Amino acid sequence: MAVTTPRKLDAQTLRQDFPIFGHPIHGKPLSYLDSASSSQKPRQVLDAMRTFYETSYANVHRGVYDLAERATAGFEASREKVRALINAPSTAEVIFTRNVTQGLNLVAYAWGLDNLGPGDVAVVTELEHHANFVPWQQIAKRTGAEFRVIGIDDAGELRLDGLDAIAQAGQIKVVAANLVSNTLGTINPIDRLTAWAHEQGAIMVVDAAQAVPHRRVDVQALGCDFLGFTSHKLCGPTGAGALYGRRELLERMSPFEMGGEMIRKVSIEETTWNDLPYKFEAGTPAFVEAYGMGVAIDYITEVGIEAIEEYEHELVGLVLDRLAELPWVTVYGPPAGRRAGIVSFNVDDVHPHDVAQILDSEGVCVRASHHCTQPLMRRLGITATARASFYLYSIPEEIDRLIGGLHKVRKVFA
Ligand SMILES: Cc1ncc(COP(=O)(O)O)c(C=O)c1O
Repeated sequence: MAVTTPRKLDAQTLRQDFPIFGHPIHGKPLSYLDSASSSQKPRQVLDAMRTFYETSYANVHRGVYDLAERATAGFEASREKVRALINAPSTAEVIFTRNVTQGLNLVAYAWGLDNLGPGDVAVVTELEHHANFVPWQQIAKRTGAEFRVIGIDDAGELRLDGLDAIAQAGQIKVVAANLVSNTLGTINPIDRLTAWAHEQGAIMVVDAAQAVPHRRVDVQALGCDFLGFTSHKLCGPTGAGALYGRRELLERMSPFEMGGEMIRKVSIEETTWNDLPYKFEAGTPAFVEAYGMGVAIDYITEVGIEAIEEYEHELVGLVLDRLAELPWVTVYGPPAGRRAGIVSFNVDDVHPHDVAQILDSEGVCVRASHHCTQPLMRRLGITATARASFYLYSIPEEIDRLIGGLHKVRKVFA
């Protein structure tokens, strides 16, 4: 029997694929610790998109000439790559979107407006990014449904012991949660939440923006009804994302946006809709970006999704250990074992914007903000954090520079 050795990720070598790391910041090597916000792009993606524009560019699904067919083939090949990445049953269930925000709004509007009403409950979590919080809050208001939030404990993990109380609020129709929290890095028990949602007769909507680029995500194993992610966090270009939706639901839903491509027949009296997934892709799609996302999927698949997850796990353990040595730093969120490659922290008596600015002077990029999770900030009793996040090109030396930069912060504000 063949013995397969798990692939180990070699970040120093991968880093050479990313031209940005050849450009110093303030004369210092770039330490990019903001991949949860957006990832850097490898040459393979940049070159492939340029080649597409130079050799295969024409509008998709419209022309019968060779060039248009080539463009369409590249676009549709990318859809198959998305399908395979998340193990969706069919490409008909893979909708290209502009980003995960658009995918989540699509579900909230196209499913929520027709399926929620008085007596129904939409449930989200206290860990949600605004993209998976505000649409459900607002659609609940418009339809008269209740809006409930699953709280967290002090470690930043979901309080599943609060589910029974939430179930008393009415007929739960939708549960929306992220797989990985963009602020705390918490890995949420989506399989258990999905089981609970289905027991209630609700659908399960998963925001996998921080999960798909970093760990194996299988929509069939999760059993969820919708799952979205965004290309720019996955080594791909901006302007592209994908939404998986279960076919029976997508077929029953009305379109989200209307115009070209999503119709079958239009007359003055009536319009009928195109087949899935095109019914949900109105207008000219960002097809070069969708193609670039496919190339990025090839890239991370070649590196190995499991290898990425394991490597980021090592890095997060390392940074948590190093931060624990600084008594003037508060770290938020769960222990390394239950956390993805994201660490939010604050330095005593220093605003996170000041922390980020001083780190920037050392070439270290971290995000300082509420990270589009204001309800979570309120729960933590703070307004913002500094956040370091990692990806396949992150290296331990960047953690050294982060820690060195934090000592400088401490000195400047002493
Ligand atoms: C968990 C999560 N959801 C949604 C989003 C929104 O992503 P986009 O702006 O690409 O739609 C982000 C981006 O930070 C995120 O981290």
